[in-house]
Amino acid sequence: GADDRIEALLSAMSREEKLAQLQIGYRPRLEDAAELVRAGIGAVFWPRSAEAANELQRVAREETPHGIPLLVGLDVVHGQRTIFPIPLAQAASFDPAVAASDARVSAREAASGGVTWTFSPMIDVSRDPRWGRVAEGFGEDTLLNAVFGAAKVRGYQGSSLTGPDSILACAKHYVAYGAAEGGRDYNTVDASEYRLRNVHLEPFRAAVEAGAATVMASFNTVAGRPAHANRWLLTHVLKGEWKHEGLVVGDAEGVVNLLAHGVAEDLPDALAQSFTAGLDMEMGGSVVGPDGRTALTPEALSAERVDDAVRRVLRLKAALGLFDGPYVDPSAEITAPSSTARAAAREAAERSAVLLRNDGTLPLADGPRRVLLVGPYAESTDHLGAWVQSFAEPAGSLADALRDERPDLHVTVLPGASFFGDDPALQEQAARAAAGHDVVVVAVGEPSALTGEASSRSDLRLPGDQERLITAVAGTGVPFAVVLVAGRPLVTGDWIDRAPAVLCAWHLGTEAAPAIARLLTGAANPAGRLPMSFPRTAGQIPVHYDHENTGRPATSGGSLQQEEVDIGLQGPANVDDRFTSKYRDLPLGPQFTFGHGLSYTTFAYGPPSVSVTEIGLEELRGGATVEVCVQVTNTGSRAGDEVVQLYLRDPVASVAQPVRRLRGFSRIALEPGQSSLVHLKLGWQDLGFWTGRGDEYVVEPGRFEVHVGGTLETTRAGEFVVSGLSSAGDTAGE
Ligand code: IFM
Repeated sequence: GADDRIEALLSAMSREEKLAQLQIGYRPRLEDAAELVRAGIGAVFWPRSAEAANELQRVAREETPHGIPLLVGLDVVHGQRTIFPIPLAQAASFDPAVAASDARVSAREAASGGVTWTFSPMIDVSRDPRWGRVAEGFGEDTLLNAVFGAAKVRGYQGSSLTGPDSILACAKHYVAYGAAEGGRDYNTVDASEYRLRNVHLEPFRAAVEAGAATVMASFNTVAGRPAHANRWLLTHVLKGEWKHEGLVVGDAEGVVNLLAHGVAEDLPDALAQSFTAGLDMEMGGSVVGPDGRTALTPEALSAERVDDAVRRVLRLKAALGLFDGPYVDPSAEITAPSSTARAAAREAAERSAVLLRNDGTLPLADGPRRVLLVGPYAESTDHLGAWVQSFAEPAGSLADALRDERPDLHVTVLPGASFFGDDPALQEQAARAAAGHDVVVVAVGEPSALTGEASSRSDLRLPGDQERLITAVAGTGVPFAVVLVAGRPLVTGDWIDRAPAVLCAWHLGTEAAPAIARLLTGAANPAGRLPMSFPRTAGQIPVHYDHENTGRPATSGGSLQQEEVDIGLQGPANVDDRFTSKYRDLPLGPQFTFGHGLSYTTFAYGPPSVSVTEIGLEELRGGATVEVCVQVTNTGSRAGDEVVQLYLRDPVASVAQPVRRLRGFSRIALEPGQSSLVHLKLGWQDLGFWTGRGDEYVVEPGRFEVHVGGTLETTRAGEFVVSGLSSAGDTAGE
């Protein structure tokens, strides 16, 4: 069997050969990559074609002493040839099937070219939109990251890793990378165990439970100790508590970075610390050079740890079936999106857009109408977003898509502004032209290059002269809609209150332009919800819905109920109530809160019913659930989807709790007049929290409130009581 083969290999391999297996190397030229492979390296980055991947596998099989095949890795983050919406946008769909379909298409395309491993999903809970990498993850909420991460893992890995279109998933970045101070990439993180367990570790626990074959260590420190050399994180929690049997890979140069962090003397020390802490594979090229020599001193790392790491690597190679056949059929390599893949990407894009504001300007009315399309995103094709490689299929432009979608519209296009320019003449020209049109569509945003890794921004307003364009159009009095293309929540500034309609289109991928055109014209009805709050100013960050209350919550001076203030709803800050937690120069709450999103139709909710008024702790622990049921009706005249959100509030606990926690959601499709009864369940794992004392998870008796609705603002309440004696030491999943 596979295990016997692995044990036989381990006893035949020298220490140097073993250490070489514990590295993934990147050399852009095929000949250089082949040199690494001859030196016995365990994994390479994808050499950009099936043929080249086969060649590297051939070298590994035929020109190395043990003929061990390679893992071939690549960042297929939201698509390989067919690009799906950025993960943040996928989260906005509140539909894990969107993530699953991205992962299936991605795995098929990537595997056909010889990729065996993707460095995705990113499940770093992110509450700071200054961090460019928020585009790559699923937003500010822990549950969304857990659910979407697990859907991606299952999608990539399929039902069996030996399947021809299965690739290894990699849950990254472990852990709390999203909490980098100030949103500055790679920056320090300091988080209590309470915060780590309840917020940042949960998605990783879910990914491991979903079978994630690999996990990537994060660049940041966690309470002073870099994740790459953090034994508690890598060995105690991940491999110990969660029994992760796959491998832990470092991030690019993450081990070398231990020198800059100031925790390692030199490279051998850094390597020894990382591997001893639980890392299984180093990324970047420092364990073994092309000459086959290792930087590790033999005595620095135990033989047992080396064998354990190599075993993990070889087990995955065996699970993928690489020992039996590492080659792919070059004639079957997928080099362009199929029509089915495009259709899936289009549907994903339509499901991911969020209608932020609308006074009825959208959808664009039927009939021959004169539409002025202005702004850099009128003609820009930069819709693919972060982490897309040169071999992806390019997107089209909104101008072309709008004309294709609705030939009856007379569409005039003007630049109006540019991403990095400052040309008032363009805004004047746009404003003059607006007068002769029935409606203006202002397509503005943030280019992909400003998002993703190493793209932190301190100012989140629209770059260039785009805000001035919106103001100029607003000044004309002609109705207009703003299309906001972005990789993160932006700070909208004052123009937001003057915009009759705003569609947040994110970076929606290959099919972005036709999807936006269909959303603007009403061929598709937007139903996405924000997975991350939009701050009013960068100075308000972090602002997220699931914050803990302070001892002195802000008050609104009567315009909002205190509870509405607590959950971050918008309202004026009562500055007369001086000693409360607020900014004196900002209204309360974010500009748009988590879960916000509108539709072209309307929905009505019945009162939620809760299946029990009281439930015992022991019953819950035994698997009993509380069922929350709500009737939702489409009261408008268009078909549409509604995202039913279930929030929990534990008003009194031994530790301050978030004012709300998303505990369930369901996206449903309703025809006009149609009703549906939505059932959501709450169990043991939903009602408690990690105490921050090791793996202690408790559900505390007392009253729980449930809040159900289509947005945080419109929830309706129910409640139940958990009875019984509280007992420390309960663990999740029991
Ligand atoms: O997977 C990525 C990671 O997210 C950031 N650094 C580089 C890696 C490999 O490309």
